[in-house]
Amino acid sequence: MGESGERTDVTPDLTDLVIRMDDVSVRRGPATLVRDLDWSVELDERWVVLGPNGAGKTTLLRMAAAELHPSAGAVHLLGERLGRVDVFELRPRIGFCSSALNGRVPGDEIVRDVVVSAGYALLGRWREQYDSLDLARADKLIDAMGMWPLVSRPFGTLSEGERKRTLIARALMADPELLLLDEPAAGLDLGGREDLVGRLSELALDDTAPASVLVTHHVEEIPPGYTHALLLRSGGVVAQGLLADVITDENLTRTFGLPLRVRHEDGRYSARRG
Ligand SMILES: Nc1ncnc2c1ncn2[C@@H]1O[C@H](COP(=O)(O)OP(=O)(O)OP(=O)(O)O)[C@@H](O)[C@H]1O
Ligand SMILES: [Mg+2]
Repeated sequence: MGESGERTDVTPDLTDLVIRMDDVSVRRGPATLVRDLDWSVELDERWVVLGPNGAGKTTLLRMAAAELHPSAGAVHLLGERLGRVDVFELRPRIGFCSSALNGRVPGDEIVRDVVVSAGYALLGRWREQYDSLDLARADKLIDAMGMWPLVSRPFGTLSEGERKRTLIARALMADPELLLLDEPAAGLDLGGREDLVGRLSELALDDTAPASVLVTHHVEEIPPGYTHALLLRSGGVVAQGLLADVITDENLTRTFGLPLRVRHEDGRYSARRG
């Protein structure tokens, strides 16, 4: 309520929320991909979304990326309601990294261009001159992702892990207020996974880094510094909240549909059949 007693904002707490979903469902024909979901993400939170194949994780993330509208319910992103905001204004404020992007990057584009072009919301188009500040920022992110030795390599010649790291640098380039990562460690070998988990952990622990949502199938891939978890199964929420409360034997067992035992050691989780 404003001082005059009139409501100045219908949802006053929204400004602190990066994502807010109220009773959201996504339907395609007879299938319900996401069911009756209530979820919110605050500025300083880092969420992991876990669930088996087909649980609705990518569908959820695409809504958070303003790429997909709900069939029912309300999605607010960065204080704006999806459906009432120009998504082309919203999307540059969100860094989205998924393997779907992989195929959209021209193979002959070099790493630096893949990263710096994000600031211009371009993909695969070389602008003759980028701002020197942008180039400096791109180089810093490329270095932070361990890609400096390959800065001039064509994207098409990179390994899976190198591509992932390049695309994460790209997602961070526009200084997003929300970072979304769909299975960033999929397809990486053990060393590549551990390297990436370490880098994502550094990012998670950085106070200036954006709110983040990371989708994965494996508790081993949860970077230390992540704070919350959402467990999905068949489009429905099994559990959500603080990581330590949510990643339990019982919840993982219900999520993946087989008896699982989870361990938490040195900030890292692991799970096996129990
Ligand atoms: N357009 C569509 N029509 C019907 N079903 C769809 C459509 N798009 C996705 N689905 C189904 O919705 C379910 C959820 O898909 P989604 O990609 O969100 O799952 P996911 O949790 O990301 O799975 P994965 O771990 O395999 O990536 C899947 O069963 C998928 O086949
Ligand atoms: Mg998926």
